[in-house]
Amino acid sequence: MSVNTVIKRITTNTLREMKQRGEKISMLTAYDYSIARIVDDAGIDAILVGDSASNVMAGHETTLPITLDQMIYHAASVVRGAKRSLVVADLPFGTYQGNPKLALKSAVRMMRESGVHALKLEGGEEILESVEKILSAGIPVMGHLGLTPQSINKFGTYSVRAKEDAEAAKLKKDIKLLEEVGCFSVVMEKIPAVLAAEATQSVSIPTIGIGAGNGCDGQVLVVHDMLGLNKGFKPRFLRQYLDLYTQISGAVQSYVGDVKSGDFPNTQEQY
Ligand code: KIV
Repeated sequence: MSVNTVIKRITTNTLREMKQRGEKISMLTAYDYSIARIVDDAGIDAILVGDSASNVMAGHETTLPITLDQMIYHAASVVRGAKRSLVVADLPFGTYQGNPKLALKSAVRMMRESGVHALKLEGGEEILESVEKILSAGIPVMGHLGLTPQSINKFGTYSVRAKEDAEAAKLKKDIKLLEEVGCFSVVMEKIPAVLAAEATQSVSIPTIGIGAGNGCDGQVLVVHDMLGLNKGFKPRFLRQYLDLYTQISGAVQSYVGDVKSGDFPNTQEQY
């Protein structure tokens, strides 16, 4: 590629157009510069700086402990690595729920300090005022329905959501509300495929599924999970493309062996 080549950035409008022409949207998480650069170069449409960083980067059991400052650090690192894809960051737990003024303050900090292009917030009707407030500042918002990990203490488990009629009806109402207030897209996590397909058809904005079947307009996975870095994590919805845990472990064992035996460094690997 010549130095003068202008890379066209994927925007929220691009995703909407993709839905209109029936082109599926690919999204993966990233939390740092190096992985963001790889997934961006490889042709991903959108990158999510998920608060799953709390799990896979920091080793917490839930997404609740991660702070806004920590999310901004991850998001700014990803933005530096992503030249083409749309970068969306999660607002973390406790920075927007039940307080539209705080939501706007958190959103402005994330946008200004990280340079991401859009934000994701978990919930439907109960967070609508916060969503509206953020949208009023010209900040694009992606919704997140179904299994919303920031509410894990309310749900009690990470099992499939909205299997019962009442919860399915609420999800269908919530997605319409999020569309009406102006969200550009909605993630649907771990819900029945039939429900996800119906919800997708009911709105003009693109839906991105994780554990929500093939009827969504796009798919997202946690990059550590699809690369096999998260040993032992094999839910049904996950397609694992590599076994990096085993590969990295093998490489480290070889290195340890080479150092111990005196084989590394050799004469070509010194000055
Ligand atoms: O934080 C995250 O990685 C997410 C995805 C699972 C959608 O919200």
